[in-house]
Amino acid sequence: METSEIRRRFLQYFEDRGHTVVPSAPLPSPDPNLLFNVAGMAQFVPYFVGQQTPPYSRATSVQKCVRTLDIDEVGKTTRHGTFFQMNGNFSFGDYFKEKAIEYAWDLVTRPQGDGGYGFDESVLYASVYYEDDEAIELWKRVAGLPDDRIVRLGMKDNFWSMGIPGPCGPCSEILIDRGPEFGADRDWEAGDRYLEFWNLVFMQNIRGEGGGKEGYPILGELPKKNIDTGLGLERVAYLLQGVDNMYEIDEIYPVIERASELSGRKYGAELVDDVRFRVVADHVRSALMLIGDGVNPGNEQGGYVLRRLLRRAIRSMRLLGYEDPSLVELLPVSLEQMKKSYPELEPDFGRISQVAYAEEEAFRRTLTAGTSIFDVAVRETKSDGGAQLAGAKAFQLHDTYGFPIDLTVEMAAEQGLQVDTEGFKSLMKEQRERAKADARAKKAGHADTSGYRELREKGVTEFTGYQELASDSQVRGLLREGMVAPSAEQGETVEVVLEKTPFYAESGGQIADEGLIVADGVKLKVLDVQRPVKGLIVHKVEVLEGVLQPGLDVHAEVDHEWRVSACQAHSGTHVVHAALRQVLGPNALQSGSYNKPGYLRLDFAWSSALDQATRSEIEEVANLAVRQDLPVSAQYMTLPEARDWGALALFGETYDEQVRVVEIGGPWSRELCGGTHVKHSSQVGALTVTGESSVGAGVRRLEAFVGLEALRYLGRERALVRLLSENLKTRPEELPAKVADLAERLRAAEKELERMKAGQVLAAAAELAANPKDVFGVQYVGHRAPDGVNGGDLRKLALDVRGRMAADKPAVIAVLSVNDGKPGVVIALNDTAREWRLKAGDLVRVAAEKLGGRGGGKDDVAQGGGTDPAGSDDALAAVEHTIGQLVTG
Ligand code: ALA
Repeated sequence: METSEIRRRFLQYFEDRGHTVVPSAPLPSPDPNLLFNVAGMAQFVPYFVGQQTPPYSRATSVQKCVRTLDIDEVGKTTRHGTFFQMNGNFSFGDYFKEKAIEYAWDLVTRPQGDGGYGFDESVLYASVYYEDDEAIELWKRVAGLPDDRIVRLGMKDNFWSMGIPGPCGPCSEILIDRGPEFGADRDWEAGDRYLEFWNLVFMQNIRGEGGGKEGYPILGELPKKNIDTGLGLERVAYLLQGVDNMYEIDEIYPVIERASELSGRKYGAELVDDVRFRVVADHVRSALMLIGDGVNPGNEQGGYVLRRLLRRAIRSMRLLGYEDPSLVELLPVSLEQMKKSYPELEPDFGRISQVAYAEEEAFRRTLTAGTSIFDVAVRETKSDGGAQLAGAKAFQLHDTYGFPIDLTVEMAAEQGLQVDTEGFKSLMKEQRERAKADARAKKAGHADTSGYRELREKGVTEFTGYQELASDSQVRGLLREGMVAPSAEQGETVEVVLEKTPFYAESGGQIADEGLIVADGVKLKVLDVQRPVKGLIVHKVEVLEGVLQPGLDVHAEVDHEWRVSACQAHSGTHVVHAALRQVLGPNALQSGSYNKPGYLRLDFAWSSALDQATRSEIEEVANLAVRQDLPVSAQYMTLPEARDWGALALFGETYDEQVRVVEIGGPWSRELCGGTHVKHSSQVGALTVTGESSVGAGVRRLEAFVGLEALRYLGRERALVRLLSENLKTRPEELPAKVADLAERLRAAEKELERMKAGQVLAAAAELAANPKDVFGVQYVGHRAPDGVNGGDLRKLALDVRGRMAADKPAVIAVLSVNDGKPGVVIALNDTAREWRLKAGDLVRVAAEKLGGRGGGKDDVAQGGGTDPAGSDDALAAVEHTIGQLVTG
């Protein structure tokens, strides 16, 4: 049975039994403690804990999940995948244990011809939390399982939570006995023989902070008894498809086949290669799904996970012997499989593949750069007689060049070296600890949301700012450092929640409104507005006058000028986005934006720099749309309706049932957006693109000024041109030619100057050659040339002097000059000096040491330099002294 069919049957089964089919939440987790969603229940947490009332009492979903804790296990065991799908059915205070067990058992054992999975009952087992007698009774009664196929296990196996504070509960799992070839009788721990594939969680408790799977405290009961189940889709797929492991199922195996064709190696021949094939197939699929949900490769958080997955896949292909770009071959194969369940991937594949291919290109460059660093490190290690590459080197290669440690180890082995992996590990550990400390520090700001939740429980705060800029309202409450407080006085900065507010809270790239909140004798300046928990708008204010208290009637008013400009900037962002896609094509999709009065920036998927002509074209299309005075409007609809309408949504956002679609000129621009906008495009005013740059692999950033700021920007440019044209005494339109001409003349003059200087320097040769110093029989010329002579000219001078001196007596010429603040030295010897066993290389090292640098070269001519010009005289004296020592000693 195809994976997509297993998925479809699941949803159908539960839909037929009164469950609402809910789409998967995007992979990035809304919880700051988790990078990605790791279970189907993640999006329902507010319903379980009673924070929100669910719109349905039964739901079913297939949730996209990514877990990377076990990334090193991928390919080695049969069960570890980084991306996986979890089918679930959920009850929010509706049915509980009995129905959950009944449904699960029925679907699992129901014949395939009758919409079920058709598992053979005789090989199925159930595990239960050891104290849960009720579950045992139910398995016997509902499923007819005998005692010896029900096993009681402890908290580690049969008590489930997300690993962080939140809802949890005892659970019960369905296991399948795959037979003695997979392990010992009744060995529940090993996991391969008795494979668990459906977890039924009786979600009834709430847990606190605490380590591990067993060490956390149970804080109490949830308001209602709920059901949360998770059926491992990939596990069921490999059981039903008669293959050995998850990498061989229909959604994954074709990538292995392609990788095998490309590399010319066979899957199933060598275990090391098999692990590589599986890593490739698993990681390529995970990357496809992550990028699909808006994750971009980066050095932090989720971006780093994605980067690591991509690099491990590329690297594994190289280890399989395939060195060409591989994603371009593999990603489309993965798409072919995954689009059966995720059709939205196909129209978005242009963007997805661009991001992935750009990352591969970046990694290939890194590999090249890293390889040179690696080569130098190998040479140094060998020349020092070492057999081990330092841990610090391996760490640098990992940290700066993205070399996985196994790559370094393997490359070192090819050079007959080992790697100090212990040293590497300890540096990695230090780095991880630093990162953890950073993360803790970052989170501390809003770790405790209980104060907000307390105020949120009193209801949603209404946003009136789409219709009006000033509203009469009432203070619902205030918070000082996250805690609800009774009052605040003049001079304090606190957070205030009003019953309703016209102030826009920062979101969707638009920054918060500014303005004042006033009451009799009270005046508050609004510094920031945020929405720390859903439905609650919080103003950070400075109390300018009076005493602030809950219950106070207030008048909240957004600064009009501010808002007008903010609207211009936000509408401007949509206009630029639409223009961008019109000029570059639909793949140039926005991945992030930021706008504030007068300024906007927009990040979009694109892998090369835009040339001036393209930038101008985008600017032109945008300004044309402004001039056409297109109407701007907003309306609410369901997400599927919005999609049908072609409205652009940001990846990785979770949207409500009803979404707001902002359009400019009807279909010209349609985006899901909660921001504030102008009413007609002409109100955006002037729009001028000021910059375009790269912000990571496959992502570019466009910046622009809008409205008055655009005019001011143009005014500044004009003033600059006027100033230049006055100074250069040229008409503005002739400036480019004039500047080019000046630059050319300057270059010529500099060349001439250099030539003359060199001439002067060289002119000194005859005189220098005629007046050597006698150092114990050696003719020594130690000369400090004027500043600014480059190495090449110094060399010429030294050789010229040498040529003019008597050849039958030993001669040493040392010439030195400080060029651009850096001293350089050249030493030349004649043959006789070398017969006296003097060496230019040795002498130049002596000189360079005084200059705070290094030098070297052949026996007859050597060159060196340093950073300390003050040592110049000493350097020449030291050479003289050393000659004396060498010829007398
Ligand atoms: N939330 C449960 C799990 O992930 C079903 O196993």
